[in-house]
Amino acid sequence: MSTSRELRAALAAGLAENGGLSDPVWIKAAEAVPREVFAGSYFLPVEGSHPTAYRAVRPTDPGWLEGVYGDRTLVTQLDGRTGADDVGAGPVIGAPSSSSTLPSLVLGMWQRLGTDSGHRVLEIGTGTGYSTALGAHRLGDANVTSVEYDPRVAERAAAALRTAGYAPRLVVGDGLRGDPDGGAYDRLIATCSVRHLPLPWLHQVKPGGRVLVTVSGWSYASGLAELTVTGPGEATGRFLPGYTSFMIARPHDRPPHSALALLPGDERPSLIDPAVLDGWTGGWVAQLAAPSAERMGGGGTQILSDVATGSQARTTPRADGGWTVTQRGPLRLWDRVEEAVGLWRRAGEPHQEGFGITVSAAGQRVWIGEEDGPGWNLPI
Ligand SMILES: C[S@@+](CC[C@H](N)C(=O)[O-])C[C@H]1O[C@@H](n2cnc3c(N)ncnc32)[C@H](O)[C@@H]1O
Repeated sequence: MSTSRELRAALAAGLAENGGLSDPVWIKAAEAVPREVFAGSYFLPVEGSHPTAYRAVRPTDPGWLEGVYGDRTLVTQLDGRTGADDVGAGPVIGAPSSSSTLPSLVLGMWQRLGTDSGHRVLEIGTGTGYSTALGAHRLGDANVTSVEYDPRVAERAAAALRTAGYAPRLVVGDGLRGDPDGGAYDRLIATCSVRHLPLPWLHQVKPGGRVLVTVSGWSYASGLAELTVTGPGEATGRFLPGYTSFMIARPHDRPPHSALALLPGDERPSLIDPAVLDGWTGGWVAQLAAPSAERMGGGGTQILSDVATGSQARTTPRADGGWTVTQRGPLRLWDRVEEAVGLWRRAGEPHQEGFGITVSAAGQRVWIGEEDGPGWNLPI
């Protein structure tokens, strides 16, 4: 059986070989920080379950330590309340609300953040504290502040950080407000996603400083953006290659709703194959076009339900190989999606690195190609 130190060394070597981790300071951090102290008991998804079910893995279970050092996300809380020590042996169903993000992603983000010794970093979403510990290892406790929304999660992370020998500044509260008492920062890294950039962040990070955050929404599409702060409350940047998603910041989550009733509306043929929304960037484009809609279904049967207005759009396959779209309500959601998909196609259907984002007093805009290219306003 391998020891924690051996498993850490193997994880770091694997990430250096295949995971894009090249900066020696972050390889050293990966070798040094004991992830098991932060993970504790965790949930793993039950293979093939729909909706996804989870089973708890505890330190006394065989394979627990090896599981900690897989390059995967370890869910540590479901539905904002249930930890892996709160459930029995059987599978449970719930929505992940806290986790230790997969090491290749957090280390890749830290590396991408381009920190230098002495830089002060604000992290949003402490979670288990694993990524906080990596930052504190590299930059020193005094240069890292981390904000966690959930007091129970924060308490557990604080204990784990103490056990592992780290003492960064920890704040319990809404990270969308940033850290009004602790700025100014050189960098901000968010390990929860947002529907739009919280403006306090762009006042607390110095001009020229960098923000790494995933922009997501209620249709579950997301993209990791790297922005440079250009002035107080202003930033511009681009989305990065890859497929990054994070759980949405709790205040940005969609409001709870009851079961959806599919109602009659105006019908016409769809101009696009609805299955385009199942692709990573196709779904992203649709979410930009209908930013307060939730998407359900898949393939030829897509359902968009607008949380703000109650508008609906749904597609159904026709026997002749086409699709009918039914729309009702003040927003013609499918018209917007078709227009957005058309813009994206005319731009050559780029993946997300073909998109950028500009935030200013005038609003927040995601664009294709260059800053003055076609784009969409984020909901603020
Ligand atoms: C993916 S986990 C963080 C992973 C963590 N950095 C790690 O490596 O273990 C996301 C965390 O963000 C927290 N969160 C959600 N909304 C937040 C907010 N508005 N402010 C601060 N934290 C938030 C969640 O409670 C959750 O613990």
